[in-house]
Amino acid sequence: MSVSPLDAVLPGAAPTDYARYMRTDELLALQKEPAQWVHPDELLFQIVHQSSELWLKLTRSHLSRALAHLGAGQVSAAELLIDRASEALRLITEHLRILRSLPPAHFATIRPALGTGSGFESPGWRLLRTATTELDIAFSRLLSARRLTTVEVYQAAAWDPLYRLAEALVDLDERIALWRTEHYSIATRVIGQGVLGTRHTPIDSLPALISHRRFPTLWEARSTLTQAPADSCPQRQPQ
Ligand code: HEM
Repeated sequence: MSVSPLDAVLPGAAPTDYARYMRTDELLALQKEPAQWVHPDELLFQIVHQSSELWLKLTRSHLSRALAHLGAGQVSAAELLIDRASEALRLITEHLRILRSLPPAHFATIRPALGTGSGFESPGWRLLRTATTELDIAFSRLLSARRLTTVEVYQAAAWDPLYRLAEALVDLDERIALWRTEHYSIATRVIGQGVLGTRHTPIDSLPALISHRRFPTLWEARSTLTQAPADSCPQRQPQ
């Protein structure tokens, strides 16, 4: 029997190479079947969460690679990967929007099916928290090795590689806060204010997380520069 140039050649049982490489059979089997739904909007709810977890997996991978570059002093390579992680966070913030159309009554039907499941248990968000802590430490070590403070980083030209790296970290921090802002806004729209989450966390405790900084010294540097007299902040030469 002759083999067509369009026949699947990759290992696997799926009918096409697309399905074998992308593992679409497994991927598309990860949502509840209609017969299992307590409400048809469960599909929307599961897909928004599952796709967020995938993007967060990519974010974590990029931040781990950025960390390795930072350890090797490769500032621009780290910046590029951190930028891509921020872009992934922008995407998951955008796609939260579709949940605005989830009627509160539909979600009230779905909620018991979640058990005690809560966003606090999201593996993607947990790993993101770890990754940003690791990056913060690595950035401080890099500055110590170069005998620089964060204020001095911001006294350089805006195109200086360390300045760019610091800004990539601030962008990432901002992206986390923007996701949290959008998430809080949608959560209250769907379940209201003054209520408890599935983990018994008051929904009104979420706004406090929005101002939590993952890279505090980069924000403190801004305050220092704002408060210091202009003539006490000489320009640092780019490295
Ligand atoms: C209808 C949509 C949603 C509602 C009503 C909602 C509601 C809540 C509530 C009430 C909490 C407080 C903790 C608890 O459960 O007791 C929470 C936390 C959280 N949720 Fe959601 N959520 C929604 C969508 C999402 C989506 C799509 C994600 C994406 C992974 C997500 C991720 C999180 C995370 C990470 C937290 C921890 C708080 C933080 O780090 O800011 N949630 N959510």
